[in-house]
Amino acid sequence: MRILIIGSILCWFCLAKDNVPIIVTPPVLRLNSTNTIFITPLHRVNGPADIKVKVHELLQNGNYQTEYRHAKGKISGHAHPVSFKVNNDAIEANLTVTVSGHVEQQIRLLVAPDLRTIYLKTDKGFYKAGETINLRSVPITINGEIYVGQIEYALVNPDGFELTKHVVSAPNTPLSLTFDLPEHLFYGEWQIKARPINSQNQPLLNFAVSFQVTDYALPPFVLDFQILDGDSMTETKLTANAHYFHGGLVSGSVTLNCFDPDSQTPHEKQLHQPLLVGEVGGFDI
Ligand SMILES: *[C@@H]1O[C@H](CO)[C@@H](O)[C@H](O)[C@H]1NC(C)=O
Ligand SMILES: *[C@@H]1O[C@H](CO)[C@@H](O)[C@H](O)[C@H]1NC(C)=O
Repeated sequence: MRILIIGSILCWFCLAKDNVPIIVTPPVLRLNSTNTIFITPLHRVNGPADIKVKVHELLQNGNYQTEYRHAKGKISGHAHPVSFKVNNDAIEANLTVTVSGHVEQQIRLLVAPDLRTIYLKTDKGFYKAGETINLRSVPITINGEIYVGQIEYALVNPDGFELTKHVVSAPNTPLSLTFDLPEHLFYGEWQIKARPINSQNQPLLNFAVSFQVTDYALPPFVLDFQILDGDSMTETKLTANAHYFHGGLVSGSVTLNCFDPDSQTPHEKQLHQPLLVGEVGGFDI
């Protein structure tokens, strides 16, 4: 009798300690997406194993949703995938994994939007007060598709204060958004932040693009021309060139007034020519 009791205690011990299937899960479950976990029944348990997975999700409205997945007669020592879809409104999920001949396992997992990254690009690197920022945004899922859930975009000043927010249900295409900078503001590094809604606590799902807001004055214009002995005074090539301090070429139009300082009668000629970005204008005088 004593041997029997000791034997059964030992067996309970080995069941509790050792007959635990190997379960590999992702770090977080992705919302509104198919998630896969891998379950390996142990070799030492005789015969094929039956696997049962219960997915118990808490939803935003306080209700629960339960799903079951069954896989029968699975070979021990091999990893068997079990896939299930997580509800878009889930807040958390508990998995109960039951493998015949093994101890039942409970796993609590966090859930997160199925988002790998949000590409963000502003039309310029420098802005001045009152200007409009054009933003392009492409949210990408783990599988490299365009994310379709809601995303919050916020304009953030150099003190980290969020001024304007837009919540956008991302369509299935790259997104264009505009933000108007205030007329009175702090100069420095500004940002537009993007994150899927309800994910403020997950820094890995917060993305941002930075740009400078400065008081940029019109840069100096450089006029370049040369008149050599014998050159025609009426046809001199002249180059007008202007760069912003951040390096880009100034676009717009240029007006040149030419006059002869020695002449008694003022002789003025006005030249007007539009300049394109990346081009340097040439004028005939
Ligand atoms: C998951 O398990 C934890 C701890 O056992 C429990 O507090 C929580 O309510 C469970 N959540 C769900 C969705 O079942
Ligand atoms: C959930 O995913 C499906 C595609 O699997 C998509 O059509 C649907 O818009 C998504 N729903 C939300 C709320 O993201």
